[in-house]
Amino acid sequence: MSLQFIHMIKQFSIPRGTSDILPSTVLSWESIESKAKDILKIYGYSEIRTPIYEDINLFKRSMGQTSDVVNKQLLEVLNNPSWVAMTKKEADEYQSQGLLKNYDPQKEMGLLSESGYALRPEGTAGVVRSYIENRLDAKETLSKLFYMGPMFRGERPQKGRLRQFHQIGVEAIGVDSASPYLDAEVIALGVRLLQEFGLSGFKLKINSLGTKEDKENFSIILRHILKDKLSDFCDDCRSRYDRNVFRILDCKNPACKQKIDALEFDDSHLSAESQAYFRHVRESVASLSIACEYDPKLVRGLDYYTHTVFEFVGGGLGSQDALGAGGRYNGLVSDLGGPAADAVGFALGVERVLLSVGEQTHPEKKLDAFMVALGETAYRRAFVINDFVRKSNVSCDMAHRPGGSMKSQMRLADKRGAKYVLILGEEEEKNHSVIVKNMSTGDQEIIGWDEVVEYLRNKLK
Ligand code: HAM
Repeated sequence: MSLQFIHMIKQFSIPRGTSDILPSTVLSWESIESKAKDILKIYGYSEIRTPIYEDINLFKRSMGQTSDVVNKQLLEVLNNPSWVAMTKKEADEYQSQGLLKNYDPQKEMGLLSESGYALRPEGTAGVVRSYIENRLDAKETLSKLFYMGPMFRGERPQKGRLRQFHQIGVEAIGVDSASPYLDAEVIALGVRLLQEFGLSGFKLKINSLGTKEDKENFSIILRHILKDKLSDFCDDCRSRYDRNVFRILDCKNPACKQKIDALEFDDSHLSAESQAYFRHVRESVASLSIACEYDPKLVRGLDYYTHTVFEFVGGGLGSQDALGAGGRYNGLVSDLGGPAADAVGFALGVERVLLSVGEQTHPEKKLDAFMVALGETAYRRAFVINDFVRKSNVSCDMAHRPGGSMKSQMRLADKRGAKYVLILGEEEEKNHSVIVKNMSTGDQEIIGWDEVVEYLRNKLK
């Protein structure tokens, strides 16, 4: 190949904000995932797997048009007219089957014309869609669901903030299921998971947004407080003032943050009922010996929350310090056409958990045995024995082509951490045997082909 041609070959690199999880790190991921699964099952949660892309309007309707996630970060896919989320014909068909509630063709067509798909920026919307579509409410009074997987947000990447990241999330959804004890149980589950992953220095922040009416009250109060100070805030905040004033409390601009920090709030915008609910949640959390910090400025960036909201922060993460977050979202299921179900959940960011527990290097998994074959004929025989040993569920490997010297093959066995080496030369080929060498003691024995698996099994016990 000429040098000129080599220069023309494009070297691809990974998309910005995504990461390769290489074999040495996969072990850390596996450990987090398996610990999570064990704990989630102990708490009565079952796994749900939903698609990584959904109708874009599902995200717009659930998280809110003014949320940053919808407004700036949705990654749209397959802008292909034949792939539209729902054609008029399909809509009519669903309607005739009674699957679309409150279907208004006039209103819906506006939506349909701009439909398409987006990669999921979070798990809640898809789980709720699935809960409604699969009529899970008819199967159990409370569906306790968990999920693990990649999420996608078109954010400006930085440490702990990726465009493809992974969440472990839970959602507890059920008709008339709201209970302060359930909120507390879900919070306790988040704490337990983080502890199980090896984290200790994180903090739990909690607040209540109350009902939809309480939220409306709070936004009026907030607008009133901020009205005269608005000129001191950034352009984004000024536009948030009308569109969604809560977002100002989330602004990361240091000047805005300073002004927000100086403001004082309490829970007086909440109705007496919402205050009592929140008090009960905090008492239930305390009854499980979990410390939490009341933060009246915690509003969360997604529209669907009502009542309890919380965040797990800290763990030495710097500016992207939310290890996980969640809350109650009582109106979402019915807003999306489902039954009057209440719900609560959270999601933990796996990359942030791993950043916080620190890079853990795991030794590559050790092999039980490694075949060393001297010469082409022996290699051909060793190739078959290797396969036989593996089929007996003893891990075994060998060089991927014949011709290697004894020394080079022994080096390979050593590198792979083999506990035993099975050596096959001309002599052993004739006697239908192998030399089995214990790599830690150096002891050797001659074993017949028929007995080698049994021998290894006994030794490996
Ligand atoms: P969220 O606060 O948007 O909530 O995300 C939850 C967690 O996902 C964050 O605390 C963070 O650890 C992680 N995360 C979010 N964005 C990124 C990113 N760009 N890069 C790395 N990690 C990130 C939700 O997603 C809600 N669905 C949680 C929920 C479930 N609420 C009720 N149920």
